[in-house]
Amino acid sequence: MAATPLPAKAVLLTDKPRGFSHPVWAARADRLQSVTGVILGLFLIVHLHFESSILLGKDAFYQVAQFLEGGIFSETGHGFPILTQIFSAFMLIVVLVHAVFALRRFPTQIGQWRALRQQMQFLPHEDTKIWFWQMISGFLLFFLVPVHLFAMMTNPEIGPHLSAERVVHQNAWMLYVLLLPAVTVHAIFGLYRVSVKWGLTTQRFAMLKLAKVILAYLMVLGVASLVAYIIIGRALSLPVVPFVPGL
Ligand code: HEM
Repeated sequence: MAATPLPAKAVLLTDKPRGFSHPVWAARADRLQSVTGVILGLFLIVHLHFESSILLGKDAFYQVAQFLEGGIFSETGHGFPILTQIFSAFMLIVVLVHAVFALRRFPTQIGQWRALRQQMQFLPHEDTKIWFWQMISGFLLFFLVPVHLFAMMTNPEIGPHLSAERVVHQNAWMLYVLLLPAVTVHAIFGLYRVSVKWGLTTQRFAMLKLAKVILAYLMVLGVASLVAYIIIGRALSLPVVPFVPGL
């Protein structure tokens, strides 16, 4: 006996989009991913500049760290490391929200990876390549960023000597050598993609060129800062004494 085809209504009911495949939820998820991505990207640009104040000397970095820890509001002038802990926990939540909404785009099956590679060979468009590297760097950051944020929550001491001690004597340089390129590439190309996607610019090529210039600049700034921490850290005698301005 020939199989009776399902009535059209039943097919429609079983195919009903659910969760993030529903267009309204997919649009909301898209927006949340972009908003959290922009927050993180802009934060990184500011963060690398604050942190590079070490290039202006120990005193400059000390003042920046004290200011960010609310030094002017504390009696000792040394600020409140708990602010660093709270802010780090908040950033961890933003990172997790961003990652969860990004994960739904990750190719999970071998067939999807094959299709992506074929697409890249067939149409080697720069934006397809950027999307591919966004995915690889995003995957690495899923592991690297929480390590950095947990370190800041459990050991929130920041200063020219204390940071240099963390970088050299607690081997944080190993993390930063991977984190710096991965997060800079991911953040800057992410901001470029958001500006094109949401129609903030029509000058795609000019924007891409600008993104590459900013990327190179941030990498130079980050590497120079890391080298400065390493030079300071190697010159410290143990046990490390916190930096005191004017001494
Ligand atoms: C919100 C809490 C955060 C605090 C308090 C913080 C603090 C610091 C400090 C003080 C350093 C200098 C070295 C050290 O003391 O270990 C550093 C380095 C670094 N941070 Fe953060 N960070 C935070 C979040 C983040 C996030 C969310 C990212 C990435 C998205 C990030 C990326 C980096 C990178 C790449 C370096 C190394 C820079 C270089 O090599 O020059 N940080 N961070």
